[in-house]
Amino acid sequence: MRIRAARPADLPALLEIYNDAVVHTTASWDLVPWTPVEHAEWYATKAGHGHPVMVADDNGVVVGYAAYGPFRPKAGYAGTMEHSVYVHPNHQGKGIGRALLVAIIDAARADGVHALIGGLSADNEASTALHRSLGFVEVGRLPEVGRKFDRWLDLVLVQLFL
Ligand SMILES: CC(C)(COP(=O)(O)OP(=O)(O)OC[C@H]1O[C@@H](n2cnc3c(N)ncnc32)[C@H](O)[C@@H]1OP(=O)(O)O)[C@@H](O)C(=O)NCCC(=O)NCCS
Repeated sequence: MRIRAARPADLPALLEIYNDAVVHTTASWDLVPWTPVEHAEWYATKAGHGHPVMVADDNGVVVGYAAYGPFRPKAGYAGTMEHSVYVHPNHQGKGIGRALLVAIIDAARADGVHALIGGLSADNEASTALHRSLGFVEVGRLPEVGRKFDRWLDLVLVQLFL
């Protein structure tokens, strides 16, 4: 398994991984799966701003990805990025999420990013443990700002200074 930059040919695999999280988990608070067109726009925006999308490539099969982009759009926030990490459900618990998050932290540091923010659903134990193990610290907890699967969701913001 190696971590590398995403290529356009990886997009179907990335979309499948993301949409699985949309349909089955609270990791994403999207309520309906993305279309390939929406997903291609997401990727083009990343590429257009020079923001990385990294994939975990297991012998030619993309099994996870991580990316970052602006935390908030106004110019004063430019030193802070918000990241995401997704691993295919069949490949979770094997160290891939950790490897991807380390890679995206390294990329952000190399890019001069000051701080990375993660927005986690409070019920996401795996993501909470992963982020904590890499030094992210909880800096905010917003009760019941999301709703999915007929229940309210709390948003936990975690931060790592680079
Ligand atoms: C969260 C996610 C990225 C973790 O990736 P992963 O490859 O499964 O995790 P790893 O095998 O790299 O584990 C790294 C650490 O995460 C924690 N962790 C992973 N799975 C866990 C679980 N089911 N329960 C509790 N902690 C868990 C552990 O601290 C682990 O460290 P350890 O191996 O030293 O115990 C992955 O489960 C995933 O994609 N989930 C769905 C999407 C998602 O939640 N994305 C994050 C949105 S904020």
